[in-house]
Amino acid sequence: MRMSEQPLTHTTVLLEEAVEALLGGAAGAGGCYVDGTFGRGGHSRLILSRLAPEGRLQAFDKDLDAIAEAARIGDARFGIRHDSFCHLAELPEASVDGVLMDLGVSSPQIDNPERGFSFRFDGPLDMRMDTTRGESVAEWLTTATVDQITEVVRDYGEERFAFQIAKALVARRQERGPLASTAELAQLVADTVKTREPGQNPATRTFQALRIFINAELEELEQALAGCLRVLRPGGRLVVISFHSLEDRIVKQFIAKHSKEVVDRRVPFAEPKPMKLRALDRIKPSASEVQANARARSAIMRVAERTQVPA
Ligand SMILES: C[S@@+](CC[C@H](N)C(=O)[O-])C[C@H]1O[C@@H](n2cnc3c(N)ncnc32)[C@H](O)[C@@H]1O
Repeated sequence: MRMSEQPLTHTTVLLEEAVEALLGGAAGAGGCYVDGTFGRGGHSRLILSRLAPEGRLQAFDKDLDAIAEAARIGDARFGIRHDSFCHLAELPEASVDGVLMDLGVSSPQIDNPERGFSFRFDGPLDMRMDTTRGESVAEWLTTATVDQITEVVRDYGEERFAFQIAKALVARRQERGPLASTAELAQLVADTVKTREPGQNPATRTFQALRIFINAELEELEQALAGCLRVLRPGGRLVVISFHSLEDRIVKQFIAKHSKEVVDRRVPFAEPKPMKLRALDRIKPSASEVQANARARSAIMRVAERTQVPA
């Protein structure tokens, strides 16, 4: 049972802008679209409202609460899969007109103490988006070594005190048994990290790192982007909203890499291989959106188009 009786809602970030970019201004779009991150369906519902009767929207989410919400959409053009968006690569080749991914966690996930995503509430140290498979953070921490924890907290949290935090975690496990709750982890980090970034809880970076690791967020993003090249038809749109620099760097570099012709230096007179994507836009939320929804503050949306690949 949740401590707060407030309903857990999610305010969609860049709602109009993302749907506009995905459909490419095509009102009454009749194609096949993918929403890789259904969440509470903010983007999906707007896409459906603009889709022609013959259009189709295939959504994905790893979270069972998101799947339950999707079940409330009674629309024959809509389908939902309880799976990672990296499985979008299983759709038929060149069959999709647009893929949207609004990365990270939803507000209902963060605000539900039972899910263990936030240091603001005490709850089990879980952090899995998909609670039906894989290890929780608490389970992983029962066996992880100092080196493994250091690597995760340093690489995914960009935390300067990663080694000290890892050492403290393992020492605490040896002395008093493994950590089980978010409050215990937040306290351990606060006791270990000496300097504070103004306005930021000392555990922010550690929680971010463990969440990214336990959900394989960056690996699945890379797999999904590669899958998009396969499933998008020429002219199809790729729209990705990211919320921190590690995600955005992957999206930016992926688009840049495939927006170039590839010259094979071993074959000097061969025609260069054509580029696969064209970068179209980089959009940040307006000041008024950020004022209304603090979560939009760090959002960056990148838009690219699958190019015509000559036969
Ligand atoms: C920011 S929310 C999306 C919100 C949604 N656009 C809306 O308007 O309600 C991110 C959602 O993506 C899901 N998610 C994150 N990574 C995923 C992945 N690799 N595969 C499938 N779903 C994922 C999360 O469970 C969460 O529900």
